[in-house]
Amino acid sequence: MRTQIVAGNWKMNKTLDETETLLSELSAKLPNTEAQVIVAPTFVNLALAKNSLESSTIQVAAQNMHFAENGAFTGEISAEMLQNIGVDTVILGHSERRSHFGEEDDLLAKKVDTAIKKGMTAIICFGEELGDRKSGNHFSVVERQLKNALFHLEPKAWAQIVLAYEPVWAIGTGETASPEQAQEMHAFIRKTIADAFTPSIANTVPILYGGSVKPANAADIFSKPDVDGGLIGGASLKVDDFVAIIKAI
Ligand code: PGA
Repeated sequence: MRTQIVAGNWKMNKTLDETETLLSELSAKLPNTEAQVIVAPTFVNLALAKNSLESSTIQVAAQNMHFAENGAFTGEISAEMLQNIGVDTVILGHSERRSHFGEEDDLLAKKVDTAIKKGMTAIICFGEELGDRKSGNHFSVVERQLKNALFHLEPKAWAQIVLAYEPVWAIGTGETASPEQAQEMHAFIRKTIADAFTPSIANTVPILYGGSVKPANAADIFSKPDVDGGLIGGASLKVDDFVAIIKAI
């Protein structure tokens, strides 16, 4: 059985005080679940999140990091800085990093390498844009993204990878891929990995769906056999919605 994961990507939301409040409410309301629950607050609130979740099963992830060990990279955060405050999971390649900050697959590949080298878990985001889907190119786009970011890895590195399929047209738009569309793509992703690596790697890597997951649609999406959970944006900022989504898994 693959690990089931519900991860909340808080993006550029929540001040220090708001982070404290949301985390204590979430801890208090956290349902009993075998799924791994992760929250990804902004960098400045990661240390607070680690401290306040010390005795909780909720894990903390960063939303991004630089690939270099250290150096003259103004405004950037290194793997060592994250690990030094106990953060060993990082979201990489989010579509907002790609579209607003020009992050391309080759940069992502370097970040993935750093995460693997440092023993971190990397949640790798990818997914097609609306135009790709309309023109029927969504499978080839996703295949290319996977290949560019991940196919150079050693087979054993896959134990540190979580995939998050997030069709760009569904992120923050209220429009969700149907459970069938999610399943179809997740099965394609598994087959692509099985062909390039081994069926065992393909069957072990968790694949999350992301893009307007809400309490109303989570159970249907999570019920699909190749969907192992979700990467949740907007709905992870509202404690009751996030808790309902955790319950749906
Ligand atoms: P959303 O964001 O749930 O608000 O669509 C998902 C994501 O960007 O990871």
